Amino acid sequence: MKIVETVSEVRQCVKQWRKEGLTVGLVPTMGYLHEGHKSLIDRAVSENDRVVVSVFVNPTQFGPNEDFESYPRDMDKDSALCEDAGASLIFHPQPEKMYLDGYSTFVDMDTITKGLCGKTRPTHFRGVCTVVSKLFNIVAPDRAYFGQKDAQQLAVIKHMVRDLNFDIDIVGCPIIREEDGLAKSSRNTYLNEAERKAATVLSRALSEGKKFMADGEKKSSDVKKIICDIISSEPLAKIDYVEIVDWNNLEPVEDTEGQVLCAIAVYIGKTRLIDNFVTL
Ligand code: PAF
Repeated sequence: MKIVETVSEVRQCVKQWRKEGLTVGLVPTMGYLHEGHKSLIDRAVSENDRVVVSVFVNPTQFGPNEDFESYPRDMDKDSALCEDAGASLIFHPQPEKMYLDGYSTFVDMDTITKGLCGKTRPTHFRGVCTVVSKLFNIVAPDRAYFGQKDAQQLAVIKHMVRDLNFDIDIVGCPIIREEDGLAKSSRNTYLNEAERKAATVLSRALSEGKKFMADGEKKSSDVKKIICDIISSEPLAKIDYVEIVDWNNLEPVEDTEGQVLCAIAVYIGKTRLIDNFVTL
């Protein structure tokens, strides 16, 4: 496995693979890889001849008071995980090489970036769409892999690929959880012992909401109330949002028939965690 920092090195490798008639998968990440990322890389390795993992903490998707500086980084551990999983190449650019002096081009999207996480993080998806477009242009993969944990991000990327005619299959992969249900996330490392225990409230609340729906509850407001009540019973938790939206367009729905996304964002102490489920 190679680790490269420049766009031209990535292009050289991919060009060679293409000459050999090989297919290429891309797993975009911000590093500090865990089993959730590993499941994406495993899937990519099983479906492509060569796999590129990008490791880049993307400054443009963090708001001014967010955790860009403190976001965890561990390139040695990341390299070992990628190598074990069978990746062919890690692209690990420096921010000033991704965003050259005077950089001023952004990919922005109306509608589906505005609700859910977009309410609290108004510039987040602009940064995500911009960096993912750049990675798509640099690697030009056949397929790219994203986790369902970031459900809105997955929907936004699919929408962007359709709108901008990227010839790339977007593959969504299931949420990977800790034994007690907490969705794996690099940000879980911010939690102290008490917060880590409290954080299980997200998956517990979602499970109850899902059960309630499976038992026949159709009103979104009632399902949301069950979820909010459970989260509010945890003293260290503060709700950012609990929403039920149409999985196709992320518009809020009054009833839970059809394919819906039930998504939540909750502060545990200062750490903002997200989780979700999709029906059908
Ligand atoms: O999901 C992430 O880790 C990031 O948002 C992504 C897709 C790698 C873009 O920086």
